[in-house]
Amino acid sequence: MVAVTDLRQTCSPVGRLTLQTATIAPGSTALRCLDWDRDRFDIEFELQNGTTYNSFLIRGEKTALIDTSHGKFRDLYLEELQSLVDLAAIDYLIVNHTEPDHSGLIGDLLALAPQITVEASKVAIQFLQNQLHRPFDFQMVKSGDRLDLGQGHELTFISAPNLHWPDTMLTYDAGTQVLYTCDVFGLHYCDDTLYDEMPALVEADFQLYYDCLMGPNARSVLAALKRMEPFSIDQIATGHGPLLRYHLADWVGRYRTWSETQAQAEPYVAIFYAGEYGYSDRIAHALGQGLLKTATAVELVDWLDTDIPAVRELVTTAAGLVLGLPPQSAPGLEPMLSTILAAAHPKQAIGLFETGGGQDEPIFPLRNRFQELGLKAAFEPILIKVAPTEATDKLCEEAGTDLGQWVNRDRTQKQSQALDSGPDQALGRLSTGLYILTAQKGDVSSAMLASWVIQASIQPPGVAIAVAKDRAIESLLHGGDTFVLNVLEEGNYQRLMKHFLKRFPPGGDRFEGIATYAAANGSPILAAALAYLECTVTHRLEAGDHWIIYCTAHVGRVAKPDGLTAVHHRRASNHY
Ligand code: FEO
Repeated sequence: MVAVTDLRQTCSPVGRLTLQTATIAPGSTALRCLDWDRDRFDIEFELQNGTTYNSFLIRGEKTALIDTSHGKFRDLYLEELQSLVDLAAIDYLIVNHTEPDHSGLIGDLLALAPQITVEASKVAIQFLQNQLHRPFDFQMVKSGDRLDLGQGHELTFISAPNLHWPDTMLTYDAGTQVLYTCDVFGLHYCDDTLYDEMPALVEADFQLYYDCLMGPNARSVLAALKRMEPFSIDQIATGHGPLLRYHLADWVGRYRTWSETQAQAEPYVAIFYAGEYGYSDRIAHALGQGLLKTATAVELVDWLDTDIPAVRELVTTAAGLVLGLPPQSAPGLEPMLSTILAAAHPKQAIGLFETGGGQDEPIFPLRNRFQELGLKAAFEPILIKVAPTEATDKLCEEAGTDLGQWVNRDRTQKQSQALDSGPDQALGRLSTGLYILTAQKGDVSSAMLASWVIQASIQPPGVAIAVAKDRAIESLLHGGDTFVLNVLEEGNYQRLMKHFLKRFPPGGDRFEGIATYAAANGSPILAAALAYLECTVTHRLEAGDHWIIYCTAHVGRVAKPDGLTAVHHRRASNHY
């Protein structure tokens, strides 16, 4: 039902940008921002066919906008929106997901229309508060909540955490049977064809998008598909690419098949949390991030949004369990805990955290009961007494990584033992230097011993470093982050190497007992280093189980002009 199609075109230094508007259902208009020439999404996601950022306007007695667009479409988008509706007449902005390609214009919109109430998940509201740095009216919604816009447009919100951010929800309009999904079911494909009439053109991009963004959370995809089942869907209005209508069952079926296949093949950890209580969702998300760094799947389970048979099956098949304790008054808590304790088994690891809600089920008696059952404690109970900070997030992420490494210990050992062929032994003869990366970001610090380090460019002075994906410091090495590369000295590195090879507990201070002083970029310089470079990350390239970090280095100093760099001779290729 395309009633209006208006393709505006403009020249832009960042590629060709156009805007298409189309009526997709009664009272429902799509604003599709077409980014024809974008060739990269995030750092590792190469685009063949550009992309689109889709936003939607629904007009009943009340008016709602669903998601906005990328900041690069500011003028085009706002001009078009104002031609469609008086901004002062918009009542709600529904935010299905807060990544900047959809939320990039929320600040501009709220500045022009401050009467708007933002409707989003609790996590999305928290993310927006950090993004916008300005007060705004909002309402946190949870799965099953409804918003009646009038004239038949009754919206239902469907929680879809981890697809692919923890903030994600879907919005269903009962009046038009349109399901608005933002990233979910999207694909990076730029074309002014509104719908999926020709699936052969887009199926490769549909699968690449699933593999990159949704596949790592296959269990969460299956949970979201289950929540979608009660709704009769006529079309899926995605946030990227064409809207899905003509082959709807096929697209949904592909998500289901891929996710079931993936979910059966991989170990997973079930994280129980209480979405509406304390800081439970934030802690659960940080733990999940740490687990994902070890390629361990995560199943997020809200205590109040599950049932006993589902919990029994999850706990029986999970490789690890994390319990974020709900309030003692939570309905049905005792039978749920009894089910978990009955289904848990000694091959599992367990982690527990308090949520900061003030009325948590006592944590240590429960920890003791799991230990009596023979479960391995993956990390010490995490006790949240005050509002979490970035340091809390980092501690939780590291705890998740520890748990993921334990879950994967057999697989890691087998892979390591398999590296015994001629090429593996020959690879092990590639030698490099020895270095220690140190990074400080806000109140979070980290460090790691590195040997895959090489000068990668002369102008600008650039360095490439390989960092294993499950390293704690990895999350401090994104584009724009800074760190110090400390060069170790031959004959004077054993103490530092031994110290930084130690296994630190989650959130542990890597620099205790080590002499340091602060670089201009804030990261620690090791006093015993032969030389150091202050570095700024500009690129990350995915390389199998490592990230290749490319950084520029404009500041550096040599402490001992006659010193030699420590050399790292290896005999095996399974580590740097
Ligand atoms: Fe399209 Fe996750 O943003």
